[in-house]
Amino acid sequence: MSRTRTSDVLVIGGGIIGLVTAWRAAQRGFATAVVDPEPGGGAAQVAAGMLAAVTELHYGEQTLLGLNLASARRYPDFAAELTELTGHDLGYRRCGTLAVALDADDRAHLRELHALQRQSGLDSEWLSGRECRRLEPMLAPGVRGGLRVDGDHQIDPRRLACALVAACERAGVVFHRVWAERLSVVRERAAGIVTADGGALGAGQVVLAGGSLSGRLDGVPEDVLPPVRPVKGQVLRLTVPKRYAPFLSRTVRAVVRGSQVYLVPRESGELVVGATSEELGWDTTVTVGGVYELLRDAHELVPGITELPLTETRAGLRPGSPDNAPLLGPTELDGLLLATGHYRNGVLLTPVTGDVLAHALTTGELPDEVRPFTPKRFARTEQPV
Ligand code: GLY
Repeated sequence: MSRTRTSDVLVIGGGIIGLVTAWRAAQRGFATAVVDPEPGGGAAQVAAGMLAAVTELHYGEQTLLGLNLASARRYPDFAAELTELTGHDLGYRRCGTLAVALDADDRAHLRELHALQRQSGLDSEWLSGRECRRLEPMLAPGVRGGLRVDGDHQIDPRRLACALVAACERAGVVFHRVWAERLSVVRERAAGIVTADGGALGAGQVVLAGGSLSGRLDGVPEDVLPPVRPVKGQVLRLTVPKRYAPFLSRTVRAVVRGSQVYLVPRESGELVVGATSEELGWDTTVTVGGVYELLRDAHELVPGITELPLTETRAGLRPGSPDNAPLLGPTELDGLLLATGHYRNGVLLTPVTGDVLAHALTTGELPDEVRPFTPKRFARTEQPV
């Protein structure tokens, strides 16, 4: 018979959100464990790592903007702390972003985004096509204008994941390399999990941080199960040979025929091109159509990419939520907290998520400014008959 091993906090999911939660919980003195067959895996292995609070602003998402900016402000200290602790270089680059327009429709769209950014008190500067090309000479001659946002930076999510695993290990977090199969509920309180190998892990508090899988854990009461769905993103990795450097000096992005495309240049020479956005359930196939569209759109922006080696193609699943914002903190089930639904902003929201969950685990409450992100906003109320 398997024995129950107990921790104060058990985090289900060892992606960057689960890891940062575990790290911060352990720093607060909680005996903490993470359950995941492959800690440091998940969407961070695919994501480009843009920290794009300003260029990814959307109408109707001003509340989310506040959280995104709060996390962006934490990034310099967060990255420095992780690097100092683990010795890992996170590829954190304060390189800025240039969002460009290729035709009149794109330009109208960018003008609207610029107006929204200004209404929201954000820094961005409108540039002519010529000014864009002066900044980034590899841009296509047809670029008609763009927005320069020096405050949108980048980090390498693979390095971030690796550093977070190391930070957790140093803080004494225990890793159970197995799938979580079912939540155990005892006397109407989350009490741990049963693992896929039949083991039992007990915990004072359980944090469900399973990314796009968070809505599928058996044993979670129906009205508490997070409404999270997978949104597929295909991403390519190219390599810029040293003789072409500097190819791009900052992230370049655009909406081409209604689809987002971005090129994120790393100091290592990697150039990440993303991303499709597809509602196809659990499918993670890399398709000819996906690769074709990304390369076609990226080529329209930066024709010189045809010279570069294509080194990797991969698809991942974003954890989408009904309002595109994360679900953070205590649920209606005592002892169960959520850290999921980060959708397009998982990498950006990593620092603030760690701090918020540590606060919630310690006090049972969300900080005031994070209350809009309570999972309870999706609680299903009884309809009158
Ligand atoms: N935030 C970039 C993406 O989700 O594709």
